[in-house]
Amino acid sequence: MDKIVIEGGIKLKGEVEISGSKNSALPVLVSSLLADGKSVVHNVPGLRDIKTIKTLLKHLGIRIEDKGGDVYLDSSHLESFEAPYELVKTMRASVLVLGPLLVRFGRAKVSLPGGCAIGARPINLHLMGLEMLGADICVDHGYVFAEAKKLKGARIYFDTPTVTGTENIMMAAVCAEGRSVLENAACEPEVVELSVALNRMGANINGAGTDTITIDGVKELHPAEHTIIPDRIEAGTYMIAAGITGGDVLIKNFPFNYMDSIVMKLKEAGIFIKREGGLLRVTANGNVAHTNVKTLPYPGFPTDMQAQFMSLVSIAGGTSVIAETVFENRFMHVSELRRMGADISIEGHSAIVRGVPFLSGAQVMATDLRASASLVLAGLAAKGITEISRVYHLDRGCAKVKRIKA
Ligand code: EPU
Repeated sequence: MDKIVIEGGIKLKGEVEISGSKNSALPVLVSSLLADGKSVVHNVPGLRDIKTIKTLLKHLGIRIEDKGGDVYLDSSHLESFEAPYELVKTMRASVLVLGPLLVRFGRAKVSLPGGCAIGARPINLHLMGLEMLGADICVDHGYVFAEAKKLKGARIYFDTPTVTGTENIMMAAVCAEGRSVLENAACEPEVVELSVALNRMGANINGAGTDTITIDGVKELHPAEHTIIPDRIEAGTYMIAAGITGGDVLIKNFPFNYMDSIVMKLKEAGIFIKREGGLLRVTANGNVAHTNVKTLPYPGFPTDMQAQFMSLVSIAGGTSVIAETVFENRFMHVSELRRMGADISIEGHSAIVRGVPFLSGAQVMATDLRASASLVLAGLAAKGITEISRVYHLDRGCAKVKRIKA
C-alpha cells in the first residue's frame, strides 16, 4: 500500500471486530523456540511484523504452516542461533529470540537493533538481565554474542520497566537452574500472556502482571497451544475513530480487562462509552473536551495511544497537555498534524495542544506505526481530502484498513 487517501468529515457508524494483539503474538510465537516439537498459536493477526518474525523463526529452523490466523510451528529441527541484521533492522522485536536461543543452543548471535523513529531504544537491560543469569555477553561488529553453558537463576532489577526486556529475560530464565526474581518488571497484558503461554508449556512463573515476577526454573518445556488476546491499541484506535468523527461504533472482541486508562481518558474527553453485553458501543456528538494525558508503563496510559489521542484533542474546546514519558522522541506526528491545521507546540517532553474548530485535509507523511494511525484518524475528521504517504508503517501493525460495517 503506497498511500491512503481519505475523504474526511463522515461520521463512522457500524461494527468492527478487534484482531489479535501484535505485541502479544510476537513473543508468544518466539516462545515456540523453547520447546522441541509442534505448537499452535491461534488468532495471530496478519501483519507485516508477524511476517517478519515468522521469517526469522524459519531462518532459525522452525517449520511454519499458516491456516488463516492459526499458526502451526514445528521446532524439532532448529539449525541456527543467529538473527541477522537484515531481519532485526526491519523489526526491533526480533531481539526477543536472544533469550530463547541462549536456552536452546547455549549461545546466540543477534544483531543489535539500529535507530528508531520514536527514541534511542537501547537493549542494555536485556543484556544486563542475561548477564545476571550467568551469560557472557559481548557486542562486536553490530552483533550481540551471548554464551552460557547453563543459565542460573538470579535477582534482576530493571532500572526502568521494559516490555520486551522483561519478556526476553522471562524466556531465558524458564529453564535456568533455581529461582529468578524480576523486579520492577513490566506489567503489560502482553507480558502476562507470555507467562500464561510459557506456563502452559510447563514453566513455573508467578506474579506476571505485578512488578515482581518469580520464575522457578524447570528442566525443559513442551510445546502447547495458545490463543492471542485482542489488541488493546487497535481497540483504542477504533474508539478514537468513533469519537473524532462524532460516530457510533459497536466494537466486538473488545478487551474489557485491560483498557481502563484508555476508557477513562476518552470519557474525560467527552466520548460516550457503554458496554452492551459482550460488545462495546462508542458514540460521540462532535464535541471533544480538552484532556491532559501522561504516558506511562501499564497500567498507565499507553505511549502507543499517544499520537492517536493527540489527533482527538487537536479539535477539543480548549488546551490539552500531552506528556510523553516512555520514549524521548515520540512527537514526529506533530509537524504533520500541524500541516492539517492543528495548533500544537512542543515543550520538552510535552505537547501543548490548543484545540482548533476543525482540521483541514492535507498531504502528510507517516513516520511510525502509531503516528500513521493518528494521521488516519485526523484525516477521517478533517474537512476535505487527506493523502498519507509512507503508509508501509501502517502495514506493520494494522491488520487491514477495516471496513466498518453499517
Ligand atoms: N529501555 C532502556 N533499555 C532497555 C530497554 C528499554 O532504556 O534495555 C527504555 C526504552 O528506551 C524506553 C523504555 O525503556 O524508554 C520502555 O521501552 P520498552 O523496552 O518497554 O519498549 P519495547 O519493549 O521495545 C514495547 C512495544 C512497543 C511499545 C513499548 C512501550 C513490543 C514488540 N513493542 O517495546 O510497541 O511502545 O513496549 O509500551 O512489544 C508499537 O507497537 O508500535 C510499539 C512501539
